Amino acid sequence: MIKNGHHANDQQDDAGCKPGGSVCSPEKRKRVVRLWCDGCYDMVHYGHSNQLRQAKAMGDYLIVGVHTDAEISKHKGPPVFTQEERYKMVRAIKWVDEMVEGAPYVTTLETLDKYNCDFCVHGDDITLTVDGKDTYEEVKREGRYRECKRTQGVSTTDLVGRMLLMTKAHHSNMDNPDYQQHTDNFGKGPKGHSPWTGVSQFLQTSQKIIQFASGKEPQPGDTIIYVAGAFDLFHIGHVDFLEMVYKQAERPYVIVGLHFDQEVNRYKGKNYPIMNIHERTLSVLACRYVSEVVIGAPYAVGKDLLDHFKVDLVCHGKTEVFPDKDMSDPYAEPKKRGLFRTIDSGNNLTTDDIVQRIIENRLQFEARNQKKEAKEMAVIEAMKRKEQQVQSEGADQEAH
Ligand code: CTP
Ligand code: C5P
Repeated sequence: MIKNGHHANDQQDDAGCKPGGSVCSPEKRKRVVRLWCDGCYDMVHYGHSNQLRQAKAMGDYLIVGVHTDAEISKHKGPPVFTQEERYKMVRAIKWVDEMVEGAPYVTTLETLDKYNCDFCVHGDDITLTVDGKDTYEEVKREGRYRECKRTQGVSTTDLVGRMLLMTKAHHSNMDNPDYQQHTDNFGKGPKGHSPWTGVSQFLQTSQKIIQFASGKEPQPGDTIIYVAGAFDLFHIGHVDFLEMVYKQAERPYVIVGLHFDQEVNRYKGKNYPIMNIHERTLSVLACRYVSEVVIGAPYAVGKDLLDHFKVDLVCHGKTEVFPDKDMSDPYAEPKKRGLFRTIDSGNNLTTDDIVQRIIENRLQFEARNQKKEAKEMAVIEAMKRKEQQVQSEGADQEAH
């Protein structure tokens, strides 16, 4: 069991108070609501983060159980990321208080009791075992299950599709006709596809950004650290980098400058970025080492930016620094001021590597996703039939 900077009895000491929250009422002091979430958390994206955010808002202390590679392979097909990678990604999400490695695929009362959790929280889709059984059947029956809203417009299936098809339709760009078309299809998903795993476009709202943002201003004495990049398909290489950046100061305030899609495409080529600026904003904001995000940062880290944010330090990892349009070094100004530092994340994973990994396993992923959708469609049909039956029984009764 790994805890994120908390001791086992912290929840007793915290006595129901959220960190940084106001003074708690005497009733709340007595009761800390402990929540359980579990899942594969493969290719962690902001849909997963949003689920954990909603879960945390239902109580005080959030424990997340992550399944092993063997469990996922048995029920769903092989995951894209190894369990060690998936554990690290979940631990980096700021709403997670504790992470349990190798949680069982089926959620039982025994698990909830073992971790002293009041109830478990899952998105409003269904999760089935290899035999087609609802994995939350037992906890639902015992009233120890709560539901949160699944985030529309993001799924591993969709992201894999973007990588394989090499399309740019997801890029946020008003001149991009594909983007308009994609947006018009919002919420519907392709015909004949499950509404849970079917593809639709994510629409950014100010509310969502507020929910994800820390909302904290830098305080006197904080060290303002600025980093910039695409942070595309936010992965453990980024997490390791940001953790190292965070460790550069005693009281760090980390600002991440995200480049617009067109800028990223200029220096990375192909159909990069795979996630558009709206999606990348949420992925980065969900990371516990990040305090603030600049949405659409200038490529060159210039005077105005450094002075505006009163930046003390600018960091970049050991990966290549692409030159600006005029071939100049984007870090020339911080270097001149003696504010630039190269950080060794100790991890050489890149967005390219992830795309390669997925393409190599293409057939397996396609088969896995088709299987998942087919199971979901079967459940939808069964639900429809049940609903029709209830309606016709109601009509019969009225007629009598
Ligand atoms: N989840 C969500 N919104 C999404 C994707 C996942 O709320 N867009 C939630 C699920 O409902 C679940 C949790 O994240 O409560 C963990 O899900 P997991 O088992 O890891 O994955 P899937 O539901 O299979 O997601 P995906 O199709 O993206 O792999
Ligand atoms: O290029 P990208 O936008 O993905 O990277 C953002 C930042 O993360 C850069 O500073 C990059 O050097 C750093 N990084 C790293 N280790 C990795 C991947 C990225 O230090 N494995």
